[in-house]
Amino acid sequence: MEIITSSRSMTEWANSRLYSRETICLVPTMGYFHEGHLALMREGGGLADYLVVSLFVNPRQFGPTEDFEKYPRDLERDMRLARENGVDVMFIPEMVDLYPPDFQTEVRVMELSRPLCGASRPGHFDGVTTVVAKLFNLVKPHVAVFGEKDFQQLAVIRRMVADLNWDIEIAGHPVVRESSGLAMSSRNSYLDEEGHRKALSLYRALEFAAEQASGGATDPTLLEKQIKEKLAGLSGAEVDYVEIVQADTLEKSKMINHNSLLVLAVRIDGIRLIDNRMLLR
Ligand code: PAF
Repeated sequence: MEIITSSRSMTEWANSRLYSRETICLVPTMGYFHEGHLALMREGGGLADYLVVSLFVNPRQFGPTEDFEKYPRDLERDMRLARENGVDVMFIPEMVDLYPPDFQTEVRVMELSRPLCGASRPGHFDGVTTVVAKLFNLVKPHVAVFGEKDFQQLAVIRRMVADLNWDIEIAGHPVVRESSGLAMSSRNSYLDEEGHRKALSLYRALEFAAEQASGGATDPTLLEKQIKEKLAGLSGAEVDYVEIVQADTLEKSKMINHNSLLVLAVRIDGIRLIDNRMLLR
């Protein structure tokens, strides 16, 4: 596995692959790999001739009071896991390389970035789209893989790619869960044992909602209310949002149907976790 740490070398590497008519898959990450990341890498490995994984903890997608400084990092372990999972190149750029002091451009997807996580984390998606746009320009992938746990992020990136006419296929990978049902996330590492137990309430809420929907529930507002009540009864849990939206537009569902997606964000002992699932499969 090759390690590339400068944007110039990344571009040179990508250009020589393109010159040889070879294809590139990119899996963008912020590191601290878990099984969810590894699943993206394994999928990505089968989608192109070369698999590039970028590792960059992007300050622009963290709010001023968020966990940028303490975001978990373990570079040695990440490099070993990447090597073991078929990664050809790890791109680990320096902060000053991606954001030199005179940097002043932002990429924003106006509508899709606004609701849900965009409402509770102002500017978050502008940071994501700006860095992903830069990564796309440097790595020049034919295909890029993102996890469906960050469903809104995936929708925002698909919109950006379509709006900016990039010829890049965006592949979504289903949520990877622990055997308990908890969606894998680097932020799970902040939870103690009790926090882990409480965090299962997110998964239970999704399961409950899916049961209600397949049992004939059609009113999204009523179902959202029931879920919020269940979560409110749990000590240490603070609901950020619980919404049933149309999976393609992220607009509120008027009625539960086969395009209805339940998305939720809940703070467990102060740790913000997100999850989602289609209500009818
Ligand atoms: O999903 C993530 O880990 C990040 O938002 C991403 C896409 C790597 C951009 O920093």
